[in-house]
Amino acid sequence: MALRAAEANEASAGVRPVILVVDDDPGVRESFRLILEDAYDLLEAGDGRQALARLRTSLVDLVLLDIRLPEMDGIEVLERIKAVDDGVEVILVTAVKTVRTAVDAMKLGAFDYLTKPFDEDELLSLIHRALEKRSLEREVAFLRSELARQHDFDELIGQHPEMQKLYRLISQVARTTTTVVISGESGTGKELIARAIHRQGPRRDKPFVAVNPAALSDSLVESELFGHEKGAFTGAYQRKLGRFELAQGGTLFLDEISSLKPELQAKLLRVLQEREVERVGGTRPVRIDARIIVATNVDLRQAVADGKFREDLYYRLNVVPIAVPPLRERRDDVPLLVAHFVRRYTQAFNKRIEGWTPEALKALHDYPWPGNVRELQNVIERVVALVDGPVVGLNDVPLDLLLPDSRARLRDTAMLPLKQATEEFERQIVTRVLERVHWNRSEAARILGLHRNSLKLMLARWGLTGSGADD
Ligand SMILES: Nc1ncnc2c1ncn2[C@@H]1O[C@H](COP(=O)(O)OP(=O)(O)OP(=O)(O)O)[C@@H](O)[C@H]1O
Ligand SMILES: [Mg+2]
Repeated sequence: MALRAAEANEASAGVRPVILVVDDDPGVRESFRLILEDAYDLLEAGDGRQALARLRTSLVDLVLLDIRLPEMDGIEVLERIKAVDDGVEVILVTAVKTVRTAVDAMKLGAFDYLTKPFDEDELLSLIHRALEKRSLEREVAFLRSELARQHDFDELIGQHPEMQKLYRLISQVARTTTTVVISGESGTGKELIARAIHRQGPRRDKPFVAVNPAALSDSLVESELFGHEKGAFTGAYQRKLGRFELAQGGTLFLDEISSLKPELQAKLLRVLQEREVERVGGTRPVRIDARIIVATNVDLRQAVADGKFREDLYYRLNVVPIAVPPLRERRDDVPLLVAHFVRRYTQAFNKRIEGWTPEALKALHDYPWPGNVRELQNVIERVVALVDGPVVGLNDVPLDLLLPDSRARLRDTAMLPLKQATEEFERQIVTRVLERVHWNRSEAARILGLHRNSLKLMLARWGLTGSGADD
């Protein structure tokens, strides 16, 4: 059955594919036009140079390319087309088909060949297949990039009931434009949650703008947030849009909100009430339509009680509070997070990890994670970067994991002379490891990378004996 051009194109109804016809014979171009113009948008070029110029300025899906062209022949044009855009499909059109040109053309990525004089149905079905391949490739590329984006960087990992509650809250609040306060310890994923709210909402195609006033100098915060007019202060050479304006239509994420100075708290309150900002040195207000999400790792209510945070601002912001649990309160999620980051970093560093010893997993599970998910992520990054074998053991896991209070202890030793501090720290690590392996000295020596006799000498020096399981 004859395939009509319009039918061939029905799959992509709405957007007409663009075909570039390259032939030095106007008669040939005309005959292509008659067959194709019902279903496709056509562009024409009389030689290779024109063809390449067309490709640089218009989006082309498919090129019908005559092999015999003046100046540059079709094979060379094909090569250059692919260099400009290697997603464009090219069908070569030739009067005589020789094996050599056929091989060259295929090597250079031509989709297929058409021999003149051609049959109309043959032409249409060839074009149909070439365009289908292109749209499939595009779809795959798109899906792949989406997958990479969501799964690698935006995905919130965790199955704990508290996390599930959080996911429900995120999707509910995403549909609204109310102000949200996300509170939680450092590294718990507050920014990730803010992004998830933005992404699931109707404003997902608009900007997500994050600003952390604590990271800016006092003098900069105001103009960063609200912008300034040219000449507003020394050094304001140009008008600058503030983050509020940059987030127009989208979401403004204000990190560490408690660090905002009192004058700016007052100004922020005004912005939230009036829904407009005034640039520094500006004369007329600018309407603001941005959803505000703030994050805090201090208890804002306490900050209010201490007189450090305005009560009226607190109530204005705290329409929907979201509390993120620290990792130590959802330890069952540790293995999931480990697997997630192992996947990410083995890919990034091109390494292979097949598994973990039960002791290594237990150490990760039991550790109190004061730096929460960010700390876990850093630990896994180090493990993946440094591990040699396919199985990760306890001694591959950075040692501070075995020393839950290493920070505190380190601080204790900070005022000692280096030699003494080092010795003290060494003693603490060794003791910790020994406790962990129930004073099995061979095992401890192995973990610590020491000869058994060296360990024995150290213990003797420190007057430590313990009940050795292997003496
Ligand atoms: N539930 C989670 N699943 C996967 N990755 C997470 C999760 N929570 C946090 N992360 C990752 O941990 C790191 C820290 O997260 P994020 O920056 O959102 O934390 P935060 O609460 O804003 O921390 P801080 O208060 O220190 O700014 C990021 O790399 C983030 O991708
Ligand atoms: Mg953050």
